[in-house]
Amino acid sequence: MKILVVGKGGREHALVRALAESPSKPELFSFPGSEAIFRIAAPTTATDLHSLIGWMKDNGIDLCVAGEESYLVKEEGLANLCERAGIPCWGPPKQSAQLEASKEFAKEFLFRHNIPTARATAVSSLEGAVSAINGEYPTVLKFDGLAAGKGVAVCPDEASAMEFLNEVFTEKRFGEGRVLVEQCLTGPEVSIFAAIVDDRYLIFTPARDYKRALEDDQGPNTGGMGAVASRQLISPDLLDLIKTDIVQPTVDGLRNDHLPYRGFLYFGLMLTPTGPQVIEYNCRFGDPECQAVMPLVKGDLAAFCLAGAQGHLQPELISFDDGWSVCVILASAGYPESSRNGDVITGIEDVTEARVYHSGTKLTGGQWQTNGGRVLAVVAGAADREGAVTAAHAAADRISFDGLQRRTDIGILHF
Ligand code: AMP
Ligand code: GLY
Repeated sequence: MKILVVGKGGREHALVRALAESPSKPELFSFPGSEAIFRIAAPTTATDLHSLIGWMKDNGIDLCVAGEESYLVKEEGLANLCERAGIPCWGPPKQSAQLEASKEFAKEFLFRHNIPTARATAVSSLEGAVSAINGEYPTVLKFDGLAAGKGVAVCPDEASAMEFLNEVFTEKRFGEGRVLVEQCLTGPEVSIFAAIVDDRYLIFTPARDYKRALEDDQGPNTGGMGAVASRQLISPDLLDLIKTDIVQPTVDGLRNDHLPYRGFLYFGLMLTPTGPQVIEYNCRFGDPECQAVMPLVKGDLAAFCLAGAQGHLQPELISFDDGWSVCVILASAGYPESSRNGDVITGIEDVTEARVYHSGTKLTGGQWQTNGGRVLAVVAGAADREGAVTAAHAAADRISFDGLQRRTDIGILHF
């Protein structure tokens, strides 16, 4: 079986490793990939989405796995182009990927199908936003498009709201687009991942990511400074409630709206005092949740994804470890506002009791260097949470580079 994984970050490194460890022993390729990923998934000669489709056809690729979201909505859409070329794709077509690409589309979907979510109003000007906020703080402002995790501001007061609105409407930091003014919810967050195949689904191990840059959930939002995953993260009763109130109505809604879906769907949930509510959908696995979850997946993930892309949900092909997994992100100087490339990384080879996934590195003169905001993800597992926390942080301690930023409270639950 030949599988091509689309993406280049730590999530894709983890996916590629999990696929490589599948008993069906697939031959792996990656696009655009990274030097670390190329060690297990060979590069292609493709330069863009269209040449990638041609390359996959020419090279007899049996399955395309979408790691990163951007290709799902680029041009005609990765999955749409795969379908036309007769290549099974694990990842949804462009029309369904609007659930992630457009927050307004997602909100309308949630409202239409009575799925619990925060109230929201879409606006297209700064004045419209001010009127929708109506002096009620805190408020949540969301740019209606892909913004690499930077398009959301939880604003405690008018000054912070005006700063974000000026970035969007005056400086056009994210390009053209509308803004959702949303009711601010409270409660712990949890990430639920469902593998959806048409009208059926399988829930993977729940996870929690740590979005804020600093200890104790302080500082700016980031793409994620770490994650913890375990089936024990939420109670069986709560998981049942999430299935009946959120996952099943979503799967039914996709069917009713004629939105085909085969792939991972990520439910970003907030556990509010009145029950779980949807904060966001992402049409892919989470990053860094994927790095924490993949080591817990047993069985044949490659065969599972191929069967799913062909329209057969086969839960019997995989199972999930009962234990805990903790992922600690090592970020470069300046992250999340900026990032610094070229700092020499030492100690990766000293990590033997944990997995190290590469999010943003490059090899120069035989040495790994930083090459992005999030640089490495160090992941360790254990039967209990404390064991996984200790092992992941002990492994992370072995790695260093100038400007390294890391949270030492990853895996310690704040709820
Ligand atoms: P998103 O990109 O939609 O996941 O938002 C990023 C983060 O902003 C979430 O993980 C939450 O921490 C926070 N957030 C988003 N929407 C809300 C909301 N309605 N109420 C409170 N916090 C929110
Ligand atoms: N960890 C957040 C995300 O993948 O969007």
